[in-house]
Amino acid sequence: MGMQTRLTEHAGVEHPIICGAMYPCSNPELVAAAAEGGGMAIIQPVSITMVHGFNDPDTIEGLRVGIRLIRELTDKPIGFNALIEKGSEKYFERMSKWIDIALEEGIRFFVTSLGKPDWVCEKVHAYGGIVYHDVTNRFHAEKGIQCGADGLICVNNRAGGHLGDLSMEEMFEELSDLDVPLICAGGIGSEEELKTAMDIGYDGVQMGTRFIATNECTAPDDYKGAIVNATEDDITWTTKLTGVPVAVIGGDGVKQHSNWLVRRLLNSRFKHRTRVLVTGISFWRMRALAKGKKNSAKDLWSAGKSVETVHSIESATTIMDRLGESLIEER
Ligand SMILES: Cc1cc2nc3c(=O)[nH]c(=O)nc-3n(C[C@H](O)[C@H](O)[C@H](O)COP(=O)(O)O)c2cc1C
Repeated sequence: MGMQTRLTEHAGVEHPIICGAMYPCSNPELVAAAAEGGGMAIIQPVSITMVHGFNDPDTIEGLRVGIRLIRELTDKPIGFNALIEKGSEKYFERMSKWIDIALEEGIRFFVTSLGKPDWVCEKVHAYGGIVYHDVTNRFHAEKGIQCGADGLICVNNRAGGHLGDLSMEEMFEELSDLDVPLICAGGIGSEEELKTAMDIGYDGVQMGTRFIATNECTAPDDYKGAIVNATEDDITWTTKLTGVPVAVIGGDGVKQHSNWLVRRLLNSRFKHRTRVLVTGISFWRMRALAKGKKNSAKDLWSAGKSVETVHSIESATTIMDRLGESLIEER
C-alpha cells in the first residue's frame, strides 16, 4: 500500500499523485498508463474528443468511446477535468452532457478549473463523487469551498499551463486553515520535489510537464525533447495563448503580451468573450502542434519549471510508480 492521505482516500488510488489534465497532451494511452502506475489520471475532454480522434459533434458520444478505450487499457480509477469558465451557452451545454457521460461511465473524481463549480458539485455529489477545484489564491479557494468543492488544487508559480503568482510554500501558508485537502500543482518533476511538497503538508501533488515527456504521450518528439533539454531559466510565460499567463518554453525570445487592442478588451466588460476568442484561435494552433505540425517560431510549447528535473523520456506507469514508492521508502 502507498502513502495514505485524504487524496488517496477521496480518489481511491494507491499514491497521492495526480497526472493532471492537459490540453492538448492528454491522449487516452497517457491517461491509462499514468492510472496504471497507481496514481489518479485526469481526462481532458476537449483533448480526448477533438485532438485524439473521438469527436462526434452531433451526439457528443465520442467522449464515451474515448473513456471506454481507456477502460480497456486499465481498470484503475480515472478522473475528469471540467473547464467551466463563463463561455458560450453551447460550450456549457456540451460540458454538462460530458459530465453526465463521465458519471454514467463510472468516473467519480472531478477537477474543475476556472468559474464557479457549484453545479458540477451538485451533479457529482448526487453520485457520491468528489470534486477538487483549481485555485491560485484565497479568494477563489473560499468561493470554491462555498460552492461545495471537497479539495483544492493549488496552482503555484512554477506550474505548466496556467500558472499562479505564489510559491508552493506561500500557497500552503495562505490556505492551510481551510480544512480541505490541498494538492500542490506546479514544479514537481522528481522524487525530491515530491518530498518537499509532502513535507510542507500537502495531501498530494498534481503533475503535468513530467507526464508529457513519456513514451505514452503522443505529443511530438520535438516537444518532449524541448522539455528534456530545457532548464528552469528557459521557462517564461505569455498571455498570448489564452489571455492569462501560460508557462511556455522559450526564454527571452517569447512575446509576453497580446497587442494593445486585445489587452484593452481583456480589461473591459468584454473580457470573457475576448478570452473565448483568443483561446479559440490558439486552440486550433495547439491542436495542430499536438499532431506534430510546428509551423512557425511563434508556435509555443507549454511547460513548467519542473523541466529542471526532467532528464529522460520514460513510461508514465514507471514514473507514477517510482514517485509513489519513493514516499513509502521515506517513512
Ligand atoms: C500543456 C499543458 C496543458 C494543460 N492543460 C490543462 C487543462 O486543460 N486543464 C487543467 O485543469 N489543467 C491543465 N494543465 C495544468 C496541469 O494539469 C497541472 O496542474 C500542471 O501542469 C502542474 O504543473 P507542472 O507542469 O509543473 O507539473 C496543463 C498543463 C500543461 C503543461
